[in-house]
Amino acid sequence: MRLILLGAPGSGKGTQGPILAERFDVPVISTGDILRAAVAEQSKMGQQAKSYMDKGELVPDEVIIGIMQERLAMDDAQNGFILDGFPRTTPQAEALSQMLRETFSVAIDNVINLEVSEEELVDRLGGRRVCSQCGATFHIEAAPPKQEDICDRCGGKLVQRDDDKRDTILKRMQVFREQTSPLVTYYDDQGLLCTVRATGSVDQISTGILSAIGK
Ligand code: AP5
Ligand code: ZN
Repeated sequence: MRLILLGAPGSGKGTQGPILAERFDVPVISTGDILRAAVAEQSKMGQQAKSYMDKGELVPDEVIIGIMQERLAMDDAQNGFILDGFPRTTPQAEALSQMLRETFSVAIDNVINLEVSEEELVDRLGGRRVCSQCGATFHIEAAPPKQEDICDRCGGKLVQRDDDKRDTILKRMQVFREQTSPLVTYYDDQGLLCTVRATGSVDQISTGILSAIGK
């Protein structure tokens, strides 16, 4: 299964990705997670990426495409993958198709367009907490941890992401509208798009995604 999760910031890509990955026994590849790991390691690429991420802007296409070329060549991606947060621009989508076709002789099976109102997105991101150790995602109201600010899975401390401040959230929404939403038409024209209304419980949405792709 080769699936793209397309959706605005906060639409649930990071929540649904691991559920689908387990169902299809393929890795989730999240460009946001790869970039945040590079920031934490303070690598040169991480330091460059941080300045864009903190402003809610996209990291330049050539950096992201280079990262994905390396990641998709790894052994665990050869039988499929769930992409979370990539592609995000038309040049990234074109580079992905070319990479898959020319290097691996495969293609994307489906693109899931997760639809949520902008008002709910802002609430979701404002209330998000992530584990500083294992990366698990929570929400202070919709998916609270059993113990305040402590990760249920590993006991790590829960923190707010640097880019989940209100002004940065609004900027990320604008960037999504301007640079990423054209991919909805791009993939619809290729007959790959499945739009899923992504409100309700996490389980309901997973079921909606699976039924949209006929699984
Ligand atoms: P990235 O990490 O990809 O962030 P994003 O796209 O803004 O998406 P989020 O992680 O914010 O949201 P999500 O859809 O995963 O939602 P989640 O499941 O967490 O990118 C960060 C930055 O990196 C970018 O701004 C950019 O700078 C850079 N970058 C990354 N990829 C790039 C690329 N390809 N090109 C260029 N730059 C790139 O859910 C959100 C909250 O809602 C959580 O609290 C969750 O618990 C809650 N929630 C989930 N489902 C539900 C539900 N059904 N009901 C209620 N609450 C829910
Ligand atoms: Zn944890």
